[in-house]
Amino acid sequence: MNDRSSSLPVIRKMVPSDLDRIVEIDIKVLGKPRPEYWEAKLDLLGKRSQISPLVAQLDGLVVGFIIGGASRWEYGVPENIGWIDTIGVDPDYQRKGVAKILFTHMAHDLKKTGIDTITTFVKRRDPVLLKFFNRLGFQKGDMVNLELDI
Ligand SMILES: CC(C)(COP(=O)(O)OP(=O)(O)OC[C@H]1O[C@@H](n2cnc3c(N)ncnc32)[C@H](O)[C@@H]1OP(=O)(O)O)[C@@H](O)C(=O)NCCC(=O)NCCS
Repeated sequence: MNDRSSSLPVIRKMVPSDLDRIVEIDIKVLGKPRPEYWEAKLDLLGKRSQISPLVAQLDGLVVGFIIGGASRWEYGVPENIGWIDTIGVDPDYQRKGVAKILFTHMAHDLKKTGIDTITTFVKRRDPVLLKFFNRLGFQKGDMVNLELDI
């Protein structure tokens, strides 16, 4: 892929210097700053995860990111299952296929580690994320999340 193209993003591994831009995008999509959260998360991912988080870059600017993981039997989840932890695209660059390309690369990386099923959590009332994942072919899985207010 060509970084100078205005339509096709370059997908590459996330590096520590992407932090500021990730925080910026996160604020734009979620509306609240949480730099410490991201700093800790990227630090942990760098040390522990065998699946690299990815960013999408358009004309040199990071416009989106995806973080995924592969199970090692955590929470009783078998090791053929991977997940999408977080995905975000700068609203100024949405609806251009950026998230879809990020997901395609992440799915490819997960598959290489032996993953054959990908799972993710989406809020019932988040129509955009639901539509996005449905469009990729995701369907309701077997797991149900349980909650208790304490
Ligand atoms: C969901 C999100 C990642 C999609 O990013 P994107 O780059 O705009 O998505 P794509 O352009 O790759 O869209 C692929 C398909 O998903 C669906 N889709 C994406 N955004 C949509 C929207 N706003 N409304 C309806 N469908 C949508 C469409 O079917 C789209 O295909 P089309 O454009 O050919 O119709 C982006 O909207 C986002 O970052 N939202 C906030 C995410 C968030 O809350 N993350 C934190 C928790 S994980």
